[in-house]
Amino acid sequence: STAGQVIKCRAAVAWSAKKPLSLETVEVDPPKAGEVRVKIKSSGVCHTDAYTLSGEDPEGIFPVILGHEGAGVVESVGEGVTDFKSGDHVIPLYVPQCYDCEFCKHPKTNLCQKIRVTQGKGLMPDGTSRFRCNGKQLFHFMGCSTFSEYTVVCAISLCKVDAKAPLEKIGLLGCGISTGYGAALNTANVEKDSTVAVFGLGGVGLAVVMGCVERGAKQIIGVDMNPDKEAAARKFGITDFVNPKDHEKKPIQEVLVEMTNGGLDYTFECIGNVDVMRSALEACHKGWGTSVIVGVAGAGKEISTRPFQLVTGRTWKGTAFGGFKSRDSVPKLVDKYMKKQLKIDEFITHTMPVEEINRGFELMHAGKSLRSIVNF
Ligand code: APR
Ligand code: ZN
Repeated sequence: STAGQVIKCRAAVAWSAKKPLSLETVEVDPPKAGEVRVKIKSSGVCHTDAYTLSGEDPEGIFPVILGHEGAGVVESVGEGVTDFKSGDHVIPLYVPQCYDCEFCKHPKTNLCQKIRVTQGKGLMPDGTSRFRCNGKQLFHFMGCSTFSEYTVVCAISLCKVDAKAPLEKIGLLGCGISTGYGAALNTANVEKDSTVAVFGLGGVGLAVVMGCVERGAKQIIGVDMNPDKEAAARKFGITDFVNPKDHEKKPIQEVLVEMTNGGLDYTFECIGNVDVMRSALEACHKGWGTSVIVGVAGAGKEISTRPFQLVTGRTWKGTAFGGFKSRDSVPKLVDKYMKKQLKIDEFITHTMPVEEINRGFELMHAGKSLRSIVNF
């Protein structure tokens, strides 16, 4: 057994901003009290990894091991950890659930604050890192760092899942799919026969579509400026596709309001663009329409609209991790997938060995992938 020992393994290291990841042999310390060391099987490549790598994230710290959409198997546990044992199949969660903080005890939020400060600094709760490479300390990322073959996470940032579920797929429930699906189910709480518009038909937007289909929405308008996104989105269940580029003389919200006789019951922004956020709000029906911000805008960006939009009954909301309390919900989402009530396979457009991880980022930037999975 490797328990208690330093493990040497492969990891994709981000040495500095704007540089490709570099495959290295890293040293991973054993888990300390309340921590778990996990052997990662696979990880998805997500925009948040790219955003930090771009150097635009003011909280980004280097050198770092990115990745937060993975799944694996517990290698060993630290002192006091009773919820996990070696061999358990697990998904790391960048939104933890401690069951103890004010936020965990509040029914209306999933934003556990227990380890927020150290997680934001790229460190474990004791203020140190478990990763080294060539004698240099590497930072953790979002409490997950799934681009390493072995990683150490807090036990409150981990959930145990059905061991029969394929680890090379279910890691996607650690971010994009749960975020979009939960935005529809939890944050908007879309009802049967609703009308819906989803702005941005990437992995997150399609997960919103999946949630709206499950709830029986009668019209789901997909909005994307890339015409290549229509075909896959139709398979997920959009009933109409609108490309803003085909309506350059008119703001897209006017196009949608005309199409729907006054606006939509629900709209979702799944891009991270503050101008589109405004369009999504203003495409909502007067009196009752609700718009949910799902996409993450760049640091310092601000949204605007006329307050009259809200005075006249529209609601503007936002969501992180789809509003799911993470440890309670993700194992249930895995079960739903196993019962074929939730799609994951359809989101995976590319699979590659970790050695080719930079190709995953390139495909994402080129708009050619929904999700790329890297395998160890
Ligand atoms: N109008 C319409 N569609 C747009 C626009 C726009 N102005 N800008 C971009 N798009 C489309 C892109 O063509 C793409 O299909 O939005 C889609 C975004 O999808 P992805 O890039 O695949 O991103 P995804 O993984 O779905 O994540 C969406 O959520 O996680 C956050 O902030 C993160 O930007 C990310 C967003
Ligand atoms: Zn908590």
